[in-house]
Amino acid sequence: MHAASEQPTPLLTGDGSHSLCDSRTGETYHSSFGAVQESQHIFIEQGLRFLPKKEITILEVGFGTGLNAWLSLLEGRNSGLTIHYHSLEKYPLSPELTNQLNYSGPTDRDLFRLLHSCAWNREVAITPDFHLTKTECDFTQYKADRMFDCIYFDAFSPDRQPEMWTEERFRHLAGHCNNQAVITTYCSKGDVRRAMIAAGFEVEKLQGPPGKRHILRGIKK
Ligand SMILES: C[S@@+](CC[C@H](N)C(=O)[O-])C[C@H]1O[C@@H](n2cnc3c(N)ncnc32)[C@H](O)[C@@H]1O
Repeated sequence: MHAASEQPTPLLTGDGSHSLCDSRTGETYHSSFGAVQESQHIFIEQGLRFLPKKEITILEVGFGTGLNAWLSLLEGRNSGLTIHYHSLEKYPLSPELTNQLNYSGPTDRDLFRLLHSCAWNREVAITPDFHLTKTECDFTQYKADRMFDCIYFDAFSPDRQPEMWTEERFRHLAGHCNNQAVITTYCSKGDVRRAMIAAGFEVEKLQGPPGKRHILRGIKK
């Protein structure tokens, strides 16, 4: 976990939802135009909804605030999906911080908090149809032990963490993707796109959420 002095600072984004500012990198966890708006567009609409399946195994790089897991749980509930959600995080957040996040309404607050309070490094049924496995690890050392249908690539930017965005790392992920699996990320840099293509994804540039011109989506063929 972050040392107390290194805990990120909460902030409000343009759509009224919270994000965090990381003291180590100076980066925010989400777009200042809107955290929920951004995550919903990139990971739910262009990622999860793109899949024709009803039982889906997701890998997320960077659990952070749990926002992508939360939006996936809501999407699964609305669309009748069974989701196996695996998320990697090197710097888990403190409960004092995650309890402040405003992503759920009063009726769902306990469910959102369960995403954070549940045990690490083992599978937990958050609901009968949403199974969460949070793994505390460094993605640069991560060795996948299963196949995925969908990858949410939500690391800090390649300028700050180039070691997360290498062809070798994307190749490892591609090797654990089912045919037609989808990977989405907010980053549309040429170097990242080329690394994803070299690793075996067919990559397209899609329109981004407000404040961001493009995002990337790769399909494993
Ligand atoms: C852009 S934030 C997004 C987090 C999350 N998806 C969210 O919506 O809040 C990037 C996340 O990657 C985590 N991270 C940074 N370096 C990492 C590493 N080497 N391995 C795993 N996670 C890492 C950070 O702690 C942070 O939670």
